[in-house]
Amino acid sequence: SLSPPAATGPRRRAVLRSGLALGLAAGAPLHARAAQPALRVLRAVPAQVPLLGGAYPETAVWGFDGQVPGPELRVRQGDMLRVELRNGLPEPTTIHWHGLRVPHAMDGVPHLTQPPIAPGASFTYAFRCEDAGTFWYHPHANSPEQLGRGLSGALIVEEAEDAAPPVDRDVTWLLSDFRVGPDAAIRADFGEVRDIAHAGRLGNAVTINGRVPQGGFAVWAGERIRLRLINAANARIFALAFEDHAPLVIALDGHPVAPHAPEGGRVLLGPGMRADLILDMTGAPGERFAINDSFFPRGGYRLTELAYAEAPPLRATPQPAPAMLPPNPLAEPVLDAQALRVEIAFGGGMMGGLAEATLDGERLGMRELLRRGMAWAVNGVVMAGHAHKPLFTLARGQSCIVTLRNATAWWHPIHLHGHAFRVLARNGAPTAHREWRDTLLMAPREEVRIAFVGDNPGDWMLHCHVLEHHVGGMGGVFRVA
Ligand code: C2O
Ligand code: CU
Repeated sequence: SLSPPAATGPRRRAVLRSGLALGLAAGAPLHARAAQPALRVLRAVPAQVPLLGGAYPETAVWGFDGQVPGPELRVRQGDMLRVELRNGLPEPTTIHWHGLRVPHAMDGVPHLTQPPIAPGASFTYAFRCEDAGTFWYHPHANSPEQLGRGLSGALIVEEAEDAAPPVDRDVTWLLSDFRVGPDAAIRADFGEVRDIAHAGRLGNAVTINGRVPQGGFAVWAGERIRLRLINAANARIFALAFEDHAPLVIALDGHPVAPHAPEGGRVLLGPGMRADLILDMTGAPGERFAINDSFFPRGGYRLTELAYAEAPPLRATPQPAPAMLPPNPLAEPVLDAQALRVEIAFGGGMMGGLAEATLDGERLGMRELLRRGMAWAVNGVVMAGHAHKPLFTLARGQSCIVTLRNATAWWHPIHLHGHAFRVLARNGAPTAHREWRDTLLMAPREEVRIAFVGDNPGDWMLHCHVLEHHVGGMGGVFRVA
């Protein structure tokens, strides 16, 4: 098993110390603005990384610039991002900018928004980052394998100067998991029908920023951290609880919410989803506190620990509550008679009771679907791949209210491209925050109502972000004319 050793190395503390000195001495944000090169080149290539750490051998991965995760891209809200992707993989790829409202041609969906980028070829993405927040990037071609081998990275769009809450450190944790064998190699069993029809490809090595955590995360008493959580796993849902700490959620999928304690004390993150937390280090020097993932009731485990440095507290008095971040420039849906009403029902999977569904115009029973590697249906139709006849069409600027019904026994994070939507109600009850999201986690049998304005023209994907579910038929397209 992959249990981490206990000690916090002196090197980490030294890094922490100098980082804090930098931030606090100037009283300025730690991420002083680095000048953005006009064109950033990213190479998708095979590489070797110490995924498991400790005494384990290095793991062969695919990574952007050979890193897992890929380099963190940081821009300021309103800036142009220009990235040339060079494909050094043995198969075609693309980059999708998850959560960013980019023009259609920049969305990175093969066969829908661009041809796949062949091995040896390159493609330049360029778009303005309209929304501030925590986003990420990943391929949209053969996603189960390309993400499952390590291709993903964080994309942080910083708020305009002085709009961000003052913090001592701004920290990104890209969470993922990998399915490895005893030799530390990634298992090549991608696309197994067992994973497709159940919870997706769950890994056995859970990572923070591409490493199985070793020795805890070094913090200082009195410190305030903005912790940006990104779930980049193929299928794993995280439910994180911070022992004896009281994190406040300040943004979901990049978009600000009124600062609040996570519901039920756990930060729930399906694949694709993000949460920004304000985390005050209210412990004492030398103490350690667990961060546990308890999504699976009987399979809870310690993800990592907050490891307090043996050093005097940074400040004597508690910090004031953080203010809400300024909203992103999203069009408010108008819920009147002109708004299009749409219903989408997801069916299938094991124990879901789906008897048959349509695949390429053919009615097939569940057994035959499984034989063909399919398990899921959207309004009775199995929709694998990327290009489909639209499920619904909006006039440009038209609002819509979409009722999503999970008629399965499984959880599904449903992601919409090109737009963010408000979450209005769950099982008929209005939500507390009417939050903006780009990915909606639905519990088994849950019904959720969302609304948005179709203001980005094109054909956009809508799919489950359990990547094996998408491959198994849980996708579709909506059109903004
Ligand atoms: Cu993060 Cu369609 O994907
Ligand atoms: Cu799903």
